[in-house]
Amino acid sequence: MQILVTGGAGYIGSHTLVEIYKAGHTAVVVDNLSNSSKESLKRVAELCEVKEFPFYQLDIRDKETLAEMFVNHKFDACIHFAGLKAVGESVEKPWLYYENNINGTLVLIEMLEKHNCKNIIFSSSATVYGEPAEIPITEQCPKGVCTNPYSWTKSMLEQVLMDVQKADKEWNVVLLRYFNPIGAHKSGRIGENPNGIPNNLMPYITQVAIGKREKLNVFGNDYNTADGTGVRDYIHVVDLAKAHVCALQAIEKQCGLGVYNIGTGKGYSVLDVVKTFERVNDLKIPYTIKSRRPGDIAEYYCNPQKAEKELGWKAENDLEDMCRDSWNWQRNNPNGY
Ligand code: NAD
Ligand code: UD1
Repeated sequence: MQILVTGGAGYIGSHTLVEIYKAGHTAVVVDNLSNSSKESLKRVAELCEVKEFPFYQLDIRDKETLAEMFVNHKFDACIHFAGLKAVGESVEKPWLYYENNINGTLVLIEMLEKHNCKNIIFSSSATVYGEPAEIPITEQCPKGVCTNPYSWTKSMLEQVLMDVQKADKEWNVVLLRYFNPIGAHKSGRIGENPNGIPNNLMPYITQVAIGKREKLNVFGNDYNTADGTGVRDYIHVVDLAKAHVCALQAIEKQCGLGVYNIGTGKGYSVLDVVKTFERVNDLKIPYTIKSRRPGDIAEYYCNPQKAEKELGWKAENDLEDMCRDSWNWQRNNPNGY
């Protein structure tokens, strides 16, 4: 299949490009590089052993330039990663998040429809469950009240895409609700490249390990969990990337609407992650306990069986692999790309 990949220069997009090429598909990437650089695409091309692939530096909200790109290519499906993703920034600048994520997706849907490409895989997030009604979280669990504008954009866009599919059954829409992606490609050539001080746990740990940050702040040790620290379902980014390949197969079989949790189904605490990282990499990560981070939830992990049953997808890497590969990326690229 020929795939339009929006936001393909980013963390998850770059890893997914490698996997879709490995599976025999081809891709055209569009990205405005607002949170990424062309270097990731150069390295993806190296890993895929292709000279380069078609890349358009454009903003998906810009209908005219997007339309020009569509004239040059015909697509079988779109994998839609493009969006802003920093939770804290979304609280400070809600308009920016609604405008970029929602408007961008609406323009994209219009273009896909116009060019008769009615197949889309959307990067959703576990965050749409809000305070979850049950743990482990299944797809039966109702969506919840989101705690920030970023999360609302995901929740609202899920609704938009479900309605589009409901109105026109020629559409195939796969909503992938990612849990916590970490790790990097085994080669150490591509990985997560956060701007400034990382908000998320693993990039913060790797920056402590490389000496860029003094110590990790552990946000709360008084949760109702085994060791008191927050529990999450960490998923290796390469496993996550492979879920998109499985979703493309489902689309080829005309799956209609599909909603899937993409996680391992295992919950690990902050201290589990710290200890595993220290053990497999033979490093020390100094940390101090701080107060809880506003908006955080004690435990968040999924039941991923629906994705296994219907998509034939299952995570293969464990927490040790994730810690090893995250460090391998950081060690080989102390300053990112
Ligand atoms: P990322 O920031 O690395 O990648 C997103 C890419 O989209 C960037 O390269 C950015 O430049 C591009 N982009 C943003 N707005 C654009 C626009 N208007 N036009 C064109 N390009 C635009 O983020 P990521 O971690 O790779 O996440 C990919 C997707 O998955 C995002 O939609 C994100 O919200 C979602 N997601 C991520 C996580 C996570 O923890 N990383 C979890 C759940 C969902
Ligand atoms: C965060 C976002 C979520 C988003 C997800 C993407 C918040 C409140 N939630 O999820 O909406 O979909 O990223 O991956 O920002 N932790 C520390 N110290 C740190 C960083 C994190 O102790 O410096 C702890 C957190 O309290 C949490 C765990 O580590 O218990 C994971 O945090 P993080 O990586 O930020 O992910 P989430 O909060 O699950």
